[in-house]
Amino acid sequence: MIKKDKYNVAIVGATGAVGKEMIQVLEERKFPVGTLRLFASERSAGETLTFLNHDHTVELLQEDIFNGIDIALFSAGEKISLQFAPIAARAGAVVIDNSSAFRMNPDVPLVVPEVNPGAVMKHNGIIANPNCSTIQMVVALKPLHDKARIKRVVVTTFQSVSGKGKEAMDELFQQTKALLTFEEIRAEVFPHQIAFNCLPHIDAFLDNGYTKEEMKMVNETRKILEDNSIGITATTVRVPVFVGHSESVNIETEENLSANEARASLSAAPGIIVYDDPKKNIYPLPVDSAGRDEVFVGRIREDESIPNGLNLWIVADNLRKGAATNAVQIAEILIGNINQAAVNR
Ligand SMILES: NC(=O)c1ccc[n+]([C@@H]2O[C@H](COP(=O)([O-])OP(=O)(O)OC[C@H]3O[C@@H](n4cnc5c(N)ncnc54)[C@H](OP(=O)(O)O)[C@@H]3O)[C@@H](O)[C@H]2O)c1
Repeated sequence: MIKKDKYNVAIVGATGAVGKEMIQVLEERKFPVGTLRLFASERSAGETLTFLNHDHTVELLQEDIFNGIDIALFSAGEKISLQFAPIAARAGAVVIDNSSAFRMNPDVPLVVPEVNPGAVMKHNGIIANPNCSTIQMVVALKPLHDKARIKRVVVTTFQSVSGKGKEAMDELFQQTKALLTFEEIRAEVFPHQIAFNCLPHIDAFLDNGYTKEEMKMVNETRKILEDNSIGITATTVRVPVFVGHSESVNIETEENLSANEARASLSAAPGIIVYDDPKKNIYPLPVDSAGRDEVFVGRIREDESIPNGLNLWIVADNLRKGAATNAVQIAEILIGNINQAAVNR
């Protein structure tokens, strides 16, 4: 990307749960924005959103809006990305896409700045942001993989409703309120009641019995760590939490790694905060991760059932590190602010 003092940025899906967070993260990280243009559907076109104390009017997304845009942050779902991201790239923008549209495309880098920042520069106009559950897991796996080579991962997620967007957050709120006041509930976004419940079902079921979300964690982790030999099995569960995904992760390594060694490697790694003093009730919690950019790791302990095994509890804000922050960090690498992108504390 040509070096400039300021870059024209577009956010496609600016009114969504992730899009709004992107506006905030660009502001907080002082990204050198020249012009910021915000796009959504006809439902929200004309609304205003604030960036750096100035109102910005949301515009209707159309094919001819990308001229003069340097960086386009896409967060409006797979269908919109498939249709508009190639148009934006042809118009000269670099697209950083939050949807699953291009993640497994071999010509599209899939990037987590703490793990594979170098992949950014291999782009052909589109860079993919991984799935939120994958991002927080690979940030924690990377230092352990470097140290002891991970052979197998067994992960169970506890994913907040904001992972499914703004309507899902409204549904949890409405159902909770209705149940506490003995009213009827409506389940429209989720297939069952989500308030006071857990659903072992995120995204569509596939023929192998896994969900798409589970297979995203398998395939994206291997692509980012550039290691197809790692065995990964995932169970993804939606829980009635508004923001912050939690993951119980069991790993088996080739070399022996004690819990203390793992704790030291994780503490030294970029973008991670180790919260691990269970006797004082200190372990990562989604409510503490909300609004933060780091990945929190705790409950680090040896798996006593196998020779080289470890258990971890990994928590992060899915709207920030799982989406908006990761995307803005990628943009920082693109414009050459690699140090700012890597040191995420
Ligand atoms: N939520 C997460 O934790 C997370 C994490 C990683 C990746 N992602 C991905 O990020 C994307 C957005 O997720 P979200 O959670 O922010 O969803 P969301 O809250 O439902 O927001 C969707 C956004 O897309 C816009 N949009 C929908 N249809 C459109 C259309 N036809 N033309 C233009 N804009 C349109 C919406 O605009 P209107 O206001 O006009 O409806 C809204 O701004 C998805 O691809 C999701 O998979 C989400």
